[in-house]
Amino acid sequence: MLRRSFVAVAATVAVLAATTTLAQAREKLTLYCSPQIEWCNLMVEAFEKETGIKVAMTRKSSGETFAQIKAESRNPKGDIWWGGTGDPHLQAAEEGLTQAYDSPMRSELQDWAISQSNSANGKTIGIYAGALGFGYNTEILEKNNLPVPKCWKDLIKPVYKGHVQMANPNSSGTAYTTLATIVQLFGEEGGFDFMKALHKNINTYTKSGSAPIKAAGRGENTIGIVFLHDVVTQTVSGFPIVAVAPCEGTGYEVGSMSIIKGARNLESAKKFYDFALGKAIQERAKEAKAYQVMSNKAAVPPKEAPKLEDIKLIDYDFKKYGSSAERKRLLAKWDDEVKSLPR
Ligand code: F6P
Repeated sequence: MLRRSFVAVAATVAVLAATTTLAQAREKLTLYCSPQIEWCNLMVEAFEKETGIKVAMTRKSSGETFAQIKAESRNPKGDIWWGGTGDPHLQAAEEGLTQAYDSPMRSELQDWAISQSNSANGKTIGIYAGALGFGYNTEILEKNNLPVPKCWKDLIKPVYKGHVQMANPNSSGTAYTTLATIVQLFGEEGGFDFMKALHKNINTYTKSGSAPIKAAGRGENTIGIVFLHDVVTQTVSGFPIVAVAPCEGTGYEVGSMSIIKGARNLESAKKFYDFALGKAIQERAKEAKAYQVMSNKAAVPPKEAPKLEDIKLIDYDFKKYGSSAERKRLLAKWDDEVKSLPR
């Protein structure tokens, strides 16, 4: 009798153990990632190690990811969108493509990260910040006897024809931040006049925001309009690249994170969300040569990170430039009035 109940208990324990293992094996997460691929990979590895949850990750630029989430909205495939500039995250929130989450980590965050969340009713949150600017290859500049550019307005001088690269603002959050920054600095008319003059000097519009400065690092481009932390990545990698915070002042990003509406793995998405806001993982960004300023107040910034307090930042209007109507309007106007012009 005793032996029979022992066997029954053992069998139940075995079934339970198998069920738990199966449940664990089934836990997964589909992550859409928009910062640099090295950082995306680090996040995936660290999260899988900490939780055992299997992550399927795709890296695409901010504007491209927004377009993908929108296209998939009737049948969402992604669970969480981590990183990328804040404007398209705000647009996604406004268009009902993402969902609110009240993370227990909120109290650990900088004001700018929380204010990003508040302006989207909790549907997004800030994970990092970084200032816009440009970087140049010192050797190519010298070889071509070009003056050192210091201001935005320098970049439209005819002497730099064919020497400047930026991304396409439709696909890239960096380039959309550039367009919105220029309009905020020089006004709608002055801003578009600037973009048209800049167009004459552009050699290529890339898909990804950081590509122009990577090309400069490889010696294939002279000046790249990018976030300053992406310039630093090239400099610390040993390339002859120098960062410039433009003299007129400049815009900045609040890199953001949002849970996709209809996420199939909602619990995994929430675990990733809380994990990504922690001090420990944010401090590991530098291992991937990511030098943004982190949103967890306790995260110590790497010494190489550009100091936002030393840069003349404009009061970037995230509410306006992250709104669906304004982002659509500016992109359509850029396509019609700038991109279509001959060079
Ligand atoms: O390379 C990192 C980074 O500059 C992030 O700081 C930013 O959010 C993201 O890339 C923007 O990438 P993209 O311009 O390709 O959308």
